[in-house]
Amino acid sequence: MGNLIYEGKAKRLYSTEIEDELIQEFKDDATAFNGLKKDKIAHKGELNNKITSIIFGHLINEGIPTHFIKRLSDTEMLVKRVNIIKAEVVCRNVAAGSLVKKLGFKEGTELDPPIIELYLKSDELGDPLFTDAHVLALGIATKEELEKIRALTLDINRILVRFFAGRGINLVDFKLEFGRDKDGSIILADEISPDTCRLWDAGTGKKLDKDRFRFDLGNVEEAYKEIMERVS
Ligand SMILES: Nc1ncnc2c1ncn2[C@@H]1O[C@H](COP(=O)(O)OP(=O)(O)OP(=O)(O)O)[C@@H](O)[C@H]1O
Ligand SMILES: [Mg+2]
Repeated sequence: MGNLIYEGKAKRLYSTEIEDELIQEFKDDATAFNGLKKDKIAHKGELNNKITSIIFGHLINEGIPTHFIKRLSDTEMLVKRVNIIKAEVVCRNVAAGSLVKKLGFKEGTELDPPIIELYLKSDELGDPLFTDAHVLALGIATKEELEKIRALTLDINRILVRFFAGRGINLVDFKLEFGRDKDGSIILADEISPDTCRLWDAGTGKKLDKDRFRFDLGNVEEAYKEIMERVS
């Protein structure tokens, strides 16, 4: 394996012999509330690596450009190196989380059309919600790149809502990260897993995602396993 080039809260990135390719390794570490809550979830690294590989594979089949090349092992995947755009893109189909806490939405309210939000990727600043005007003024992305990111996010949402619905799961919301590949094209990067999505059982409403960890709902590993089994 190459050199460790970045260690985040949930993953590590390693260089490879190929300049444009990285290994993304998924860890069992879990954090919430901006790092205030920390623990390990048994087998999370393996589960998220496999879930992300399946979902990215599906998105690629549906024509979405992504960094995913192939899964290498239980906890590692090969990806294209990108220059990450410092904005997290959240897409919401149902009100939950900060929409309830900060804006007074009633949890479970359907959002049609879906709401797309941008958050500045900055641990020091606590990942604040920001607008297109801030993105442009900070030089984080161009107007054209933002348009591309929004269009891709809506396409990904349509694909994933259908994908999860077919498996008895309601895709409530999710977070995406985009980057520029070596040619400067915008592609989907990072991960899509129960760490980065809210996934509710379509029949019972049971939460099958990181909210089980955030709010000590119990059976966290079992929920991630349930998602793994349903997407397989
Ligand atoms: N293809 C890629 N090329 C370069 N960087 C990537 C790629 N895919 C994901 N990343 C970045 O790798 C890191 C993955 O680590 P992790 O998700 O653990 O970070 P994190 O603790 O959430 O921190 P951050 O706030 O930086 O996202 C993230 O910073 C993510 O933006
Ligand atoms: Mg991350």
